[in-house]
Amino acid sequence: MRPALFAVDPERVHELAIASLARGGAVAGLAGRHLRVDDERLAQTLLGVRFPNPVGLGAGFDKYARAINAWPGIGFGFVEVGTITAEAQPGNPKPRIFRLPEDQALINRLGFNNDGADVTGERLRGFHRAGTLHRIPIGVNIGKSKVTPLGRAVDDYVASFDRLSGYADYVVVNVSSPNTPGLRQLQDRDQLAEIVRALIARRVADRPPILVKIAPDLTPGQLDDVMALANELDLDGLVVSNTTLSREGLRSPHAGEAGGLSGAPLRDRSLAMLREVRRGVGDRRLIIGVGGIFTADDAWQRIAAGAGLVQLYTGFVYGGPGVVAEINRGLLARMTAEGVGTIGELVGSDVP
Ligand code: FNR
Repeated sequence: MRPALFAVDPERVHELAIASLARGGAVAGLAGRHLRVDDERLAQTLLGVRFPNPVGLGAGFDKYARAINAWPGIGFGFVEVGTITAEAQPGNPKPRIFRLPEDQALINRLGFNNDGADVTGERLRGFHRAGTLHRIPIGVNIGKSKVTPLGRAVDDYVASFDRLSGYADYVVVNVSSPNTPGLRQLQDRDQLAEIVRALIARRVADRPPILVKIAPDLTPGQLDDVMALANELDLDGLVVSNTTLSREGLRSPHAGEAGGLSGAPLRDRSLAMLREVRRGVGDRRLIIGVGGIFTADDAWQRIAAGAGLVQLYTGFVYGGPGVVAEINRGLLARMTAEGVGTIGELVGSDVP
């Protein structure tokens, strides 16, 4: 189906896919394809939560938390919804997603289009009442509303956190999207510390865990600051990484579009940053590895470098729904071949 789908505007295809998954129609068809790989060797308990397998859906795919019922059937081990902001907002003018098939990449400048924390919270409550919210762990990714000035960012994050954290197995503080003006300045040590401290203070009995999602474009100095802060505040983890502003080595005609670049060109950069982060924070914090993961070998490499979990976005767009099972089966096959008993044993096994 990919050639037909790729002839249509990417955001339109995305909306159709989500609508179909949300209705449950596509799921019935997909479920017959045995997309779930259930194997104890892939399961881990991290942050006090059981993850049936390490392959998650990255933030930004189910921004509105509409297709919650579909993701377990596609085989994901967890899903991160959002980014959600305190205020509902339409995002940037369209077109704002571009395919770069020659580069196995996407560029997006969506700008946090979402329903806002109240409406999304109601939606999550609906799934919760129906008993389907936590069939796999759910991460809730929160960002800053465009209308909120940077100086009041803390209030915006706190408002979303208060509204949504009760539904989350973990919360991600997104300070790394390139598509909200000034947002990435919040990665600066003092500003980030203020946000994280405020959220930590709102938790009940240390739940839910809080992670910070960072940009692959941080300077070494900025990255050092974030890692020092993670250690100082005893942050639960980091999501490494968001999209990049770099356009190095691209061949596609759309390479000049503004926005964040994802997919294959991000792979090495994301992996290198993950290694740095693992060096800086050790094995006491969860690192979610994301950026350019398409295959079981990509996932393996990321996990061996210290990622407790991985996520896909662009690899899922290009690989289609079968890719999640393919990665999980590929991990199992390689574990068997290399005598690795459980996925937990693989985590960080390459770290010197
Ligand atoms: C994203 N990503 C993203 N991340 C985030 O924290 N909040 C968001 O709302 C979005 N939205 C979004 C939209 C689109 C169209 C894309 C392609 C990506 C970033 C995503 O979660 C991931 O970090 C990067 O895309 C890198 O992973 P992949 O795509 O290379 O697997």
